[in-house]
Amino acid sequence: MAVIGYGTMGRAQAHNLRRSGIEVVVGARPGSPRRELAVSEGFRVLDTHAATAAGDPVMLMLPDEVMSDVFASDVAPNLKPGAALGFAHGFALAFAGVDPGPAHPCFLVAPKGQGDMLLAAHAAGGGTPGLLAVLPVDDAATWDLAAAYAGAVGCLAGGGFVTTFDAECVSDQFGEQSVLCGGVIELLKAAFDVLVEAGYGRENAYFECVHELKLITDLIHAHGIDGMRRRISGTAAYGGLTRGPFLIGDEVRERMRGILTDIESGAFAQEFLARSDDPATGTRAMIANEASGPLAAAGRDLQARLDRFTTRRDSEQSSGSNES
Ligand SMILES: NC(=O)c1ccc[n+]([C@@H]2O[C@H](COP(=O)([O-])OP(=O)(O)OC[C@H]3O[C@@H](n4cnc5c(N)ncnc54)[C@H](OP(=O)(O)O)[C@@H]3O)[C@@H](O)[C@H]2O)c1
Repeated sequence: MAVIGYGTMGRAQAHNLRRSGIEVVVGARPGSPRRELAVSEGFRVLDTHAATAAGDPVMLMLPDEVMSDVFASDVAPNLKPGAALGFAHGFALAFAGVDPGPAHPCFLVAPKGQGDMLLAAHAAGGGTPGLLAVLPVDDAATWDLAAAYAGAVGCLAGGGFVTTFDAECVSDQFGEQSVLCGGVIELLKAAFDVLVEAGYGRENAYFECVHELKLITDLIHAHGIDGMRRRISGTAAYGGLTRGPFLIGDEVRERMRGILTDIESGAFAQEFLARSDDPATGTRAMIANEASGPLAAAGRDLQARLDRFTTRRDSEQSSGSNES
């Protein structure tokens, strides 16, 4: 198999495939720092076009914003006849204009987890659930391939769930934008600002509005929303049940519908691809801008103190155990 791209997801999948006994060649662009990493981790690494020519299936583990260009320049002209293409996200086929044509079956195995997490879970004998799709739709041989791939890479833990490239992409982006990477983060920022503006300390604000989110998400992950409510204090449960709906009302749902429409129509994809390299308004510029804000600064300060505490405690414990 060829795994093109050795970033978060490509690295995880290459390791998991190898652990499952599959011979993997990694494709990387010349000069890529991750190329050295892949070599140092024992993989045979070739330029993208040569790895494509060597593999079947070929997994495209590239950033969504470059998928179309790399596919046209290095992948499409070098695919073996009939070689299958695999993806970890539906975006390339659903919205980025990648069209391998009927000669090359495609499958989607979208891990429901982040790459490093998939790598660690597989190393420990598990994995994550996966969303699976194939093109041509209903093609039995491609389904066999998708299921075999999902099993090898660790994406059948808890089940493989049937979807389509479009549905996976739309629902994934909607969840990211409305909840995981958009809505929740803006809630954290707004709540932090309100407490700090009202004169409460930055540490208080960060602990209460950001740091403790993990505790709640871990409880939801393990026990569901009702299970989480039963395990927190009565004050927290009552406050959340009554003030949450006051905060997130019909107007937010209406804006969520607007977000969904933009994703479904391709307007979001167009905007994302057009701005991806823009030094002023692209993703990197926005990340840098956010990193210089007050919430990020409070988080860094607090994390540094917590890390110093952990290091001191660890070294005290190890010197204590040496003495004993
Ligand atoms: N990250 C996750 O946890 C996650 C979860 C689910 C699905 N996915 C999906 O997995 C796919 C890969 O995402 P990712 O997060 O792993 O991306 P990533 O960490 O940004 O890594 C992308 C890889 O592609 C290489 N690359 C970038 N531009 C290139 C170009 N023009 N030509 C050749 N190689 C290039 C990078 O190498 P360089 O060192 O040269 O930059 C890197 O090895 C995407 O479809 C994504 O949606 C990711």
